[in-house]
Amino acid sequence: MTISEQQIAQYRDTGFLVLKDFAGDSDCDSLRARAQEMVQEFDPAQVVSIFTTREQNRIADEYFLTSGDKIRFFFEENAFNEDGTLRYEKEKSINKIGHALHDLDPVFDRFSRSRNVKELAGAIGFEDSLLLQSMYIFKQPNIGGEVTCHQDSTFLYTEPIDIVGLWFALEDATIENGCLWAIPGGHQRGLKSRWVRSRDGGMEFEIYDKEPWPANELVPLEVEKGSLILLHGLLPHRSFENRSPHSRHAYTLHLIRAGAKYPEDNWLQRSQTMPLRGFE
Ligand code: FE2
Repeated sequence: MTISEQQIAQYRDTGFLVLKDFAGDSDCDSLRARAQEMVQEFDPAQVVSIFTTREQNRIADEYFLTSGDKIRFFFEENAFNEDGTLRYEKEKSINKIGHALHDLDPVFDRFSRSRNVKELAGAIGFEDSLLLQSMYIFKQPNIGGEVTCHQDSTFLYTEPIDIVGLWFALEDATIENGCLWAIPGGHQRGLKSRWVRSRDGGMEFEIYDKEPWPANELVPLEVEKGSLILLHGLLPHRSFENRSPHSRHAYTLHLIRAGAKYPEDNWLQRSQTMPLRGFE
């Protein structure tokens, strides 16, 4: 794993960085195979919870809010018929798996704490970091939902604000199948909001800046399978719906600094018996 000074400077400047061929085909395929196994073992009857950042009411349910130290399955918003039955087979209906794959599943643990990932984290100043959250994102063919423009620090806030997202393309990500889009340099414009726990036990947004993100500044980040995209926590980014017949699987991992303050009103909390861990 090598990353140049120039690439690090580019990351600091634009708030993101694409590293081609970071993961080998076999790594990508073993993560995909493991996710497929997990979905096969999962009984959808246990759960009816749909993840979409457009419908905060729905994600503000117990199932989501207590998933920080578990492996849970979340459906696409358009996965259901009006009578609540699945429109497609469950393998084609799940939006994502989250949020502690990196601690609870040996295959994801091994990948997330591999030497390459650890060295990369060190190169961008996250050598002494904690692995906060992981997600396996399916972006299903035909029904893969959009994720509206946001900053990850809205949902995963630390003081000082300092978090990095690692977005691994496990398949080619294209405009057609819903690749990431980002606003270059947008991480330098401050945090627009925070999603915090409210007194009634739900969640609410604390707004600091009502101005919407300029959509015309978004650029597509089309990448090949095996690419890694680094995303600064303050970088505005989004993805559009996947209306294509091709899935767009990705694995994401978020790192925070070990010394940062992690507030109790963030949505993601761990039980005391499962504290956050670093690379070891
Ligand atoms: Fe994000």
